[in-house]
Amino acid sequence: VNELPTIVRLALGRASYDIEIGTGTLPRVGEFLAARRKATHAAIITDENVEQSHAARVASSLAGAGMAIDLFVVEPGESSKSVAVADRLWRKLLDVGADRKTIIVAVGGGVVGDLAGFVAATYARGLAYVQVPTTLLAQVDSAIGGKVGVNLPAAKNMVGAFWQPLGVAVDTQTLDTLPEREYRAGLAEVVKYGVILDAVFFDWLEHHVDDIRRREPSALRHAIARSCRLKADVVERDEREETGLRAVLNYGHTFAHAFETLTGYKTLLHGEAVSMGMICASRLAERLGCIDGNTTRRQRDLLDKLGLPVEPPRLDPEAVLETMSRDKKVEHGRLRFVLPTRLGHVELIGDVGPEHVRQILATAR
Ligand SMILES: NC(=O)c1ccc[n+]([C@@H]2O[C@H](COP(=O)([O-])OP(=O)(O)OC[C@H]3O[C@@H](n4cnc5c(N)ncnc54)[C@H](O)[C@@H]3O)[C@@H](O)[C@H]2O)c1
Ligand SMILES: [Zn+2]
Repeated sequence: VNELPTIVRLALGRASYDIEIGTGTLPRVGEFLAARRKATHAAIITDENVEQSHAARVASSLAGAGMAIDLFVVEPGESSKSVAVADRLWRKLLDVGADRKTIIVAVGGGVVGDLAGFVAATYARGLAYVQVPTTLLAQVDSAIGGKVGVNLPAAKNMVGAFWQPLGVAVDTQTLDTLPEREYRAGLAEVVKYGVILDAVFFDWLEHHVDDIRRREPSALRHAIARSCRLKADVVERDEREETGLRAVLNYGHTFAHAFETLTGYKTLLHGEAVSMGMICASRLAERLGCIDGNTTRRQRDLLDKLGLPVEPPRLDPEAVLETMSRDKKVEHGRLRFVLPTRLGHVELIGDVGPEHVRQILATAR
């Protein structure tokens, strides 16, 4: 609590913003916002699981900074990321007289962040908003980069926008209430950043497994700040997914999406699927001669020590291939994968023959 928060700056010209990573900083969200925008009305969007524990504290902090507050609480879970719930929130904003000066404050995981960000992007042609992410996944991934949106029944994240927040305020103490399984799932994305962009960070993670598992605050601040910096670097160079650079963030995700789809989105958390997917992708890279076995082994050991599953679920390889070829990363029926060529570096490899993927899934233990 005494340590100063770390600031990660995401530089996007006029849309630039700070990601502040501290411990015990929730009571300062009001100040954080007030320093960035003169505001008199804030609408907090949150879910039932964090309403009492975290959103209420954000509310009193905003009130302390002189803002009138409205609090909108949605049901926890992916099904709240819908047009119906967004519609409900638009109407509530209208009811309370929200105008273009109202600030939206998202307090919750990726579901709340994507939904609240989408409502902010669309209401009155766009309101300013602040992200206060409370899951590890949201702190290192979904709250950073301005991708906001909702799902359609048949397609995840199909309706949305690129809408950058005014700022992101991360308090590592919010993770104290996060269930162990959700916490570990977030760690998969942290490991991903090391593999795709930063071998030194990967090394640091290997040496701090115990601190990370215990959620030791200074280790958490470092892991989160480094992850945010790495994601910010990518977003700065490819804000709207136009140059293809942002695709590096999809390491392990082609496999992961297929696993999530085929297991029905209930059995696996996203991060668990990503953990399995990274090992499959790494084995694929080995097969294609991009890396040696040791590079896969280090990832497998680290993910395993962090309590993540590292072997893919038992699925029909043909069904996996079929699901993958419907994935948006497939061009003209050819499979493309983001694969490591060494720890800390990935490349987009096109035209991967399906026999290689079959082999990876068949030899999985
Ligand atoms: N916008 C992006 O760039 C981006 C990137 C990755 C993922 N996403 C999206 O993020 C979503 C997943 O986010 P998530 O994993 O945070 O899921 P989530 O928001 O559903 O949170 C997971 C669970 O934890 C609960 N929770 C949140 N914070 C808590 C806390 N501090 N203590 C106790 N419980 C808490 C939630 O109520 C929920 O039940 C997906 O919809 C995904 O599409 C978006
Ligand atoms: Zn992911």
